[in-house]
Amino acid sequence: MLSAISIGSLKTSGTSTLALTLASVAAAADIPVVLVDAARDGDLAAWAERDGVPAKVSVERVRDEMALEKLVRAARRRGELVVIDAGDEAEMIRTAARLCDRHIIPVRFSPLSASFAVETDEMLRQDAGRGRRGRDWCFVASAVATIPSRIARSVEAIVEASPTQRMPIGLVQRAAYEAPFLFGGTIFTLDEEAAPGLDRARAEAASLAYAIGILGKIETRKSAPGVELRRAA
Ligand SMILES: Nc1ncnc2c1ncn2[C@@H]1O[C@H](COP(=O)(O)OP(=O)(O)OP(=O)(O)O)[C@@H](O)[C@H]1O
Ligand SMILES: [Mg+2]
Repeated sequence: MLSAISIGSLKTSGTSTLALTLASVAAAADIPVVLVDAARDGDLAAWAERDGVPAKVSVERVRDEMALEKLVRAARRRGELVVIDAGDEAEMIRTAARLCDRHIIPVRFSPLSASFAVETDEMLRQDAGRGRRGRDWCFVASAVATIPSRIARSVEAIVEASPTQRMPIGLVQRAAYEAPFLFGGTIFTLDEEAAPGLDRARAEAASLAYAIGILGKIETRKSAPGVELRRAA
């Protein structure tokens, strides 16, 4: 199981939604999680001010490298999972990725989001080798439209041109993922009245968390991007 993951792309692409969703899965599975809001606009810090933050989730607002490193180290020592919303700034994405076991580059199915995702990927590749931990990152689709379009297929082609792995599971575009930002709480604590489709959102979020490696037993690679993930038997 991974103990620290960061999420961020050089263009706004559903980073905060993905970070909150993954932290929510962990909390629902009784895993203590430190959700770090290192992004420019503090979406998760704002979310944390509402009622309904699960007891297993603590939210920290951090904007500098040293504080982030201290937080990640302390959480690792306590055996807690760390999920960092690194936002869209290059320096913060690099720093967060360097401190974590895996970095997720969210991709919305728009051409701009895809080009910036590839730019983020290249930035991390240039940075690989620096820092103490093995490098590991992947693309995750963050708000997939259920009706495939020609644009969506071209976007896929942009991302697939990179040797970096794209997770086979992503998040479909659903109102359920937006509900926590409106009402507080998580997709696991809200009820169906607040947002239809919570069941599907929960199942999808849990599958993604497994695929990424923050739930259950996952064998992970520690170096070359592009190698397939192998799920332990
Ligand atoms: N899977 C999804 N389903 C529905 N809406 C989504 C999904 N993912 C993201 N969104 C919506 O898209 C918008 C941008 O998402 P989000 O705030 O997570 O992105 P961000 O990268 O953190 O952006 P910002 O730079 O504004 O902080 C939000 O309105 C969010 O609710
Ligand atoms: Mg955000």
